[in-house]
Amino acid sequence: MAKIVVLMGAPGAGKGTQARLLQDRTGLPQISTGDMFRAIAQEESPLADEVRAVQASGRLISDDLVIRIVRDRTNRPDCRNGYILDGFPRTIKQAEMLEALAKEQGHELVAVLIDVPFDVLEKRMTGRRTCPVCGEIYNIYFKPPKTDEVCDRHPEVKLMHRSDDVPEKVRVRLETYEQQTRPLLDYYAATGRLHRVDGTRTPEEIYRDVERIVLGQ
Ligand code: AP5
Ligand code: MG
Repeated sequence: MAKIVVLMGAPGAGKGTQARLLQDRTGLPQISTGDMFRAIAQEESPLADEVRAVQASGRLISDDLVIRIVRDRTNRPDCRNGYILDGFPRTIKQAEMLEALAKEQGHELVAVLIDVPFDVLEKRMTGRRTCPVCGEIYNIYFKPPKTDEVCDRHPEVKLMHRSDDVPEKVRVRLETYEQQTRPLLDYYAATGRLHRVDGTRTPEEIYRDVERIVLGQ
């Protein structure tokens, strides 16, 4: 049965980093709701203004909008053999919707928590830089680019620093995670679908565990 891989973890835990590795090596598409909303935020429309404001605040976008976007995206043909969810679900309502969607699509669900203590997360977020062309994720402390502030593969563009990756927004994001998203861990644990991996090691070490869980070995 095709799988929906739900990558869970606090902001900055490494969901995007692991999702990109999984996508490159298994061929399953990465569906990042955060990236999809950052793309919408660049448009010019009332919706874009709203999304930009909510993302910059560190709070969550409304469940109805997120659910609509995930449903549309995962019903595309490239998701037929399964997909990787990065940053979704984040509320119980979103998790319930995903349950129904998985049933409709005939997929089984496996949740992987990338477990990282809160004190490590702040540096991961404030140090993060992303290439606007290929999406490569860097970190000025842990994974710096070869040349300051530019991508190794796209030296013509400056790396981006997210508007929510500043200390006061990071605090709001961590609080939001605690209140609204952490309860989902119990939700998946109660049905035996939650796997934990130690997210304090190197991305490659973490990846080995993630891949083993996803491929069911
Ligand atoms: P989103 O984009 O999903 O952000 P997030 O959950 O806060 O997670 P991050 O992207 O910050 O972290 P990550 O876990 O992907 O870590 P990464 O691999 O980049 O959401 C942003 C906003 O969009 C939300 O606040 C909300 O407003 C909205 N939104 C999105 N989804 C939503 C939903 N479902 N419902 C409602 N609203 C939604 O790594 C972080 C850094 O650490 C990088 O610099 C990386 O290089 C480094 N790093 C990674 N792994 C390691 C490692 N093993 N060792 C050392 N450094 C590492
Ligand atoms: Mg991310």
